[in-house]
Amino acid sequence: MKRNRVNRVALIGTGFVGSSYAFALLNQGVTEELVLIDVNKEKSQGDAMDLNHGLTFAPSPTRIWFGSYTDCQDADIVVLCAGANQKPGETRLDLVEKNLAIFKNIVGSVMESGFDGIFIVATNPVDVLTYATWKYSGLPKERVIGSGTILDTARFRYLLGDYFQIDTRNVHAYIIGEHGDTELPVWSHADIGGVLVNKIVESSDKYSQEDLDNIFVNVRDAAYQIIEKKGATYYGIAMGLVRLTKAILQNENSIHTVSCYIDNKYGTQDVYIGVPAIINRNGVRDVIELSLDETEKEKFLNSANVLKNTLNPFFK
Ligand code: 2OP
Repeated sequence: MKRNRVNRVALIGTGFVGSSYAFALLNQGVTEELVLIDVNKEKSQGDAMDLNHGLTFAPSPTRIWFGSYTDCQDADIVVLCAGANQKPGETRLDLVEKNLAIFKNIVGSVMESGFDGIFIVATNPVDVLTYATWKYSGLPKERVIGSGTILDTARFRYLLGDYFQIDTRNVHAYIIGEHGDTELPVWSHADIGGVLVNKIVESSDKYSQEDLDNIFVNVRDAAYQIIEKKGATYYGIAMGLVRLTKAILQNENSIHTVSCYIDNKYGTQDVYIGVPAIINRNGVRDVIELSLDETEKEKFLNSANVLKNTLNPFFK
């Protein structure tokens, strides 16, 4: 993998998610260079101008410009946010054919530039498109990462924090599996300050299992609710993508639930799916294999199978 003198992030797709990501990245001062690439050149040019006008107020300098695929050659990270998004009532998996065709083109063009860094994929269905990016790029699996369930985990921690009235950053709980309808909560490892959430609920009549079940349903269906209300989701995912970018560029070895390649873990293989993983300058250092209970195992395998069945017609 090539290491550049300054950190460069190339963002492909400056729609709602991409431009929110660029805005959040600038606000957190994460990278020295940010290049915006979009089929709609006017849009990425306008975004570059608009963001540059905020530089005076940013925590550190960032060189921002609108560019083309050749700029990916010197990028440390290419973030893929391009593609169609869900309309009200559509599932993420409904987007598969349309976005696979778009990705074949984009990933091919990025690789032609001589890119030799790390891909972060955000477009839905994210687990399927991350697998596709890995296949189309030929890069090692560690260097192709999907946003996976990073946002679902954040939604879960927020709702649990709200329910127990605890700072969301002190809630340790994961959503794993498909970023979509078959995802699952890992209750067997969910804790607050070292005490299992299940135990807190058991030992107090203030809380109930039914409320916990509703919290998960609200996590799983959050995107549908937001899309119904405002047409798209973008702030939460944008901040999750910045968090991942930072974990990579600052060599953090921090743990996030992202879409990773699974090779003989969790009883499955040859699939990209959301699991906790250690992220650093090389991408995925390691996938963490949680010891799931029987129900969780079953749900995880079901989720993996749904993804494999979606991949099958295109990659077998
Ligand atoms: C989300 O979960 C739609 O995948 C997007 O917000």
